[in-house]
Amino acid sequence: MLHIRFPGLDLGHMKLGARPTPVRPLALDGIEGVDLWVKDESVFGDGGWGGNKVRKLEWILPEAKRRGVRTLFTVGGIGTHWGLACARYGAEHGFRTVLGLVDQPVDDHVREQLARLQASGAELHRYPTPARLRLAAPWLMARYAGDWRLPWYLPAGGSNEFGTLGYVETALEIAKQVAHGELPEPGTVVVPVGSGGTVAGLALGLSLAGLSARVFGVVVNDTLDLSAPALAGLASRTAELLVSRGAAGPFTMSEDCITVSNDWLGSTYGDPTPASVTMVEAGARAGLELEPVYTGKALAAIADIGPQLPGPVLWLNTHGPR
Ligand SMILES: Cc1ncc(COP(=O)(O)O)c(C=O)c1O
Repeated sequence: MLHIRFPGLDLGHMKLGARPTPVRPLALDGIEGVDLWVKDESVFGDGGWGGNKVRKLEWILPEAKRRGVRTLFTVGGIGTHWGLACARYGAEHGFRTVLGLVDQPVDDHVREQLARLQASGAELHRYPTPARLRLAAPWLMARYAGDWRLPWYLPAGGSNEFGTLGYVETALEIAKQVAHGELPEPGTVVVPVGSGGTVAGLALGLSLAGLSARVFGVVVNDTLDLSAPALAGLASRTAELLVSRGAAGPFTMSEDCITVSNDWLGSTYGDPTPASVTMVEAGARAGLELEPVYTGKALAAIADIGPQLPGPVLWLNTHGPR
């Protein structure tokens, strides 16, 4: 869709999932007084496997090929959805993936994710804290350099400018669904914020599409700077990337269209809260498979302040690989 919008755009794209992802109204126990809609990103990916990370890989993997990279080096918690998607899709397209993993609170979901990571074929290196991983990163880069080629370092969650393009495109897809009458024009789009690419891409894409919806990011990670200015900065760098690869800009995007809140984070990244667990249970009763670290927290926010947000409220179900 970005290539349709900007003909001649010099950016590789690899289709890894079926689009558009479906939209529908959503009723959930515990959420009242909100005109709530869901866009189901959880089904995006090969055979419905993947969630929101696969949108990012559609732009990252072709760029890696263009750079002649053989190894992708990325980081995350020991339950990282991003790391698993990177390992699986990377391997399918001929890349080796090296993962620097940091310990996080362990529940059944994280235990299962770690087992999947161990079976994924990626090289895993585990550290007790982000600081220890940062110290080890240069050594890992050197260790996995081959043929004078360094691995390409991809930040947590795949939230560099290339990954962020995945959610610029999702916003254009939302605009098309609005234009086709599948969805009323949203007043607010709500998503969890783990590394920021999803919010930044949506904010840029909504403004490119001429929609005035605000993006409300429910911060679930306290180990990164996920403030509105930091996310607006990522959106601006992504806009610069588009212009540098042939899109007619400049693009203006106001920082005001992004709101973030830590109010539903709980004690730390990866720690389920009673409210997020309640929303996962409510989701299960409505036939949704969710988890309490990202999607449950976003829904907990909607349950608490949804009626005060400009409506209709569009929640993106970003549930990850499983
Ligand atoms: C299920 C799920 N939802 C949302 C997010 C947040 O996306 P982002 O990392 O782009 O902020 C992530 C990853 O961090 C995730 O795994």
